[in-house]
Amino acid sequence: MLKHSRIAGTGRFLPEKVVTNADLVKLFETSDEWIRERTGIAQRHIAVEGQTTVDLGYGAALQAMEAAGVTAEDIDLIVFGSTTPDLVFPNCAALLQDRLGIRSACPAIGLEAACSSFIYSLSVADKFVRLGEAKCALVVGAETLSRIVDWTDRGTAILFGDGAGAVVLKPADEPGILSTHLHSDGSFKDLLYCSGGTSRGYARTADGRLDAFIRMSGNEVFKIAVKSLGSIVDETLAANGLDKSAIDWLVPHQANIRIIQATAKKLDMPMERVIVTVQEHGNTSAASVPMALDVGVRDGRIKRGDLILLEAFGGGLTWGSALIRF
Ligand code: ACO
Repeated sequence: MLKHSRIAGTGRFLPEKVVTNADLVKLFETSDEWIRERTGIAQRHIAVEGQTTVDLGYGAALQAMEAAGVTAEDIDLIVFGSTTPDLVFPNCAALLQDRLGIRSACPAIGLEAACSSFIYSLSVADKFVRLGEAKCALVVGAETLSRIVDWTDRGTAILFGDGAGAVVLKPADEPGILSTHLHSDGSFKDLLYCSGGTSRGYARTADGRLDAFIRMSGNEVFKIAVKSLGSIVDETLAANGLDKSAIDWLVPHQANIRIIQATAKKLDMPMERVIVTVQEHGNTSAASVPMALDVGVRDGRIKRGDLILLEAFGGGLTWGSALIRF
């Protein structure tokens, strides 16, 4: 018989270095006012040289494990969502396994679905736990997106930041993760992508840099994000036979305050019931949802038993949701 899985603990880790909008004004023509108005972002954390995605993921994992009351010996599955892995291989999950001293030869899955990577990873781990194939799964979303930001492109450089979030999933008698819904539409691949890669290779920019940067048609992505997230909210509620009034907290992907407000409006939710971190973190891609969840849990807003809707949207285009009884 299928079991249930529940989140036993959450954690997050941010690099110390902060880059404010005022710092960006020194790099290209923009203003604090423009960035705040269009995105809600005031600052972002950026990894220093040598600080990697796994370094950040490690910090988040330790916190989540402590909160769940588990040790490295208990972990029997790692799913690590990231678009900016330390290396082509081994994957970040295997590198984290080693860093944590996990010697049980448990599966270590690296997963990439851009900003939806954490929701995708959570969905995979949930299935392992429900099938009885994992009893203590570590799910991480971590990024050093600053490494693939073109710091001369004001259309994207204002948006992104680095960070990591993690959760520990354990089996439960009562449903914790009620459902996950994942989508992708590859026909939108040219709206949001990284301009260089291992197999395709790398071109050079006009000024001689290796061309491996985030390229985005922001305005079009914005419109599709609002539409897709609106429809996944409907899909999630319908699949669970719930009315939107049942949701206690919305924990959205932190891409842009205006996208977050549109999703909250769709749910008839006041912004006081939405966990918003975009002003301090920027868009941290795979890390954004688990970090926002951890913020809500640690500051006492999210309590055990609350019904929470997680959602994310990113390159692919990919999008997904998870409905959780915390
Ligand atoms: N400062 C000042 N002006 C700027 C800046 C800036 N940083 N960036 C762009 N502009 C200018 C443009 O050049 C343009 O000027 P023009 O009218 O003279 O041509 C004007 O501002 C409007 O540009 P738009 O791109 O239309 O601005 P928009 O209101 O769409 O805001 C933004 C841009 C913030 C990027 C928005 O489109 C957005 O947030 N998009 C969604 C991003 C997203 O959610 N991505 C998905 C996840 S990311 C992932 O998966 C990795």
